[in-house]
Amino acid sequence: MNRVRYNLMGLEVHVKGAYHAELVGKVVGILMLICPVCRNPLSRGRASWSCAQGHSFDIAREGYINLLLVQQKKSRHPGDGRDSLVARRQFLQSGHYEPLRQAFVAMMPTPRPQNWLDVGCGEGYYTSLMLDHADNVMGLDIAKAGVQMAAHRYAGMTWVVASAAALPLASNSFDGGSSLFAPVPPDVVRVLRHGATLMVVTPDADHLLSVRQALFGEVRPHQPQRILQSLPEGLEAVSQTPISFELKLQQADLKSLLAMTPYAWKAKPERRAILEATLNMTTQAAFVLHVLRKQDEFPVIMTGD
Ligand SMILES: C[S@@+](CC[C@H](N)C(=O)[O-])C[C@H]1O[C@@H](n2cnc3c(N)ncnc32)[C@H](O)[C@@H]1O
Ligand SMILES: [Zn+2]
Repeated sequence: MNRVRYNLMGLEVHVKGAYHAELVGKVVGILMLICPVCRNPLSRGRASWSCAQGHSFDIAREGYINLLLVQQKKSRHPGDGRDSLVARRQFLQSGHYEPLRQAFVAMMPTPRPQNWLDVGCGEGYYTSLMLDHADNVMGLDIAKAGVQMAAHRYAGMTWVVASAAALPLASNSFDGGSSLFAPVPPDVVRVLRHGATLMVVTPDADHLLSVRQALFGEVRPHQPQRILQSLPEGLEAVSQTPISFELKLQQADLKSLLAMTPYAWKAKPERRAILEATLNMTTQAAFVLHVLRKQDEFPVIMTGD
């Protein structure tokens, strides 16, 4: 087992192996990155993060760190593609989902969490506001293009390319987290502390109903309850809050919206073309904000040795 000496916010800590590092992460309460190869702690150098085994990960020009290993990729560019991320940024920047962002941060827990993880952060629109309500915020996404865009635009947060299915993060090291329209695999539960809050946002039954009707004719309602059934073990439901508001969309907004959702490429091209040629449209945005809590009795899982 390797003995590791590293500096945490000015505090010099000596630890043995990954297990001890996880305990330190818990006590000191910092965002704890671990090596995706050997699961020992990573410490920050001037231009890279490295572990005691000598695995090293460069800090990109934009300030993010890529901890996604080639063998963890199921495709060359996993996650959302650049075009869809650019469309998402365009749409979100026009403020259409601002009521959701405000409702979300208003429901973040008090007292202010120390470490917050946003899983599937995309280009960082929601993550960026979380920093007003938590001390340390980490945005993580499997799509490098998304993390790149987020890090380029928003300072003061830790931005990481990684898979939520195998997080390069110490167990029990976050006292809160979120997933907006993104997955929640079991590893997310591992990195949360007991009693930590997890906020999950999903589309409500009639989200963008008139847009979907225009694309498909008949539509099946979204099933926000299904998320609860598909969540990993160790989480209990605390509350569910519906959030809905009217959207007045102009042609450019509609185009961005179609490019950022999975709906459009499932629709017939001629239906999509008609919608893209529409100059104005009013529809309803409808979401459910699920607040969940990591159960106290859920076993403590340590990664590494
Ligand atoms: C619909 S987008 C939502 C992005 C952002 N939360 C937002 O609402 O603007 C879903 C995001 O989850 C990411 N994602 C999908 N699978 C993932 C995984 N296994 N690990 C991390 N991120 C993942 C995608 O790359 C994409 O950025
Ligand atoms: Zn390593």
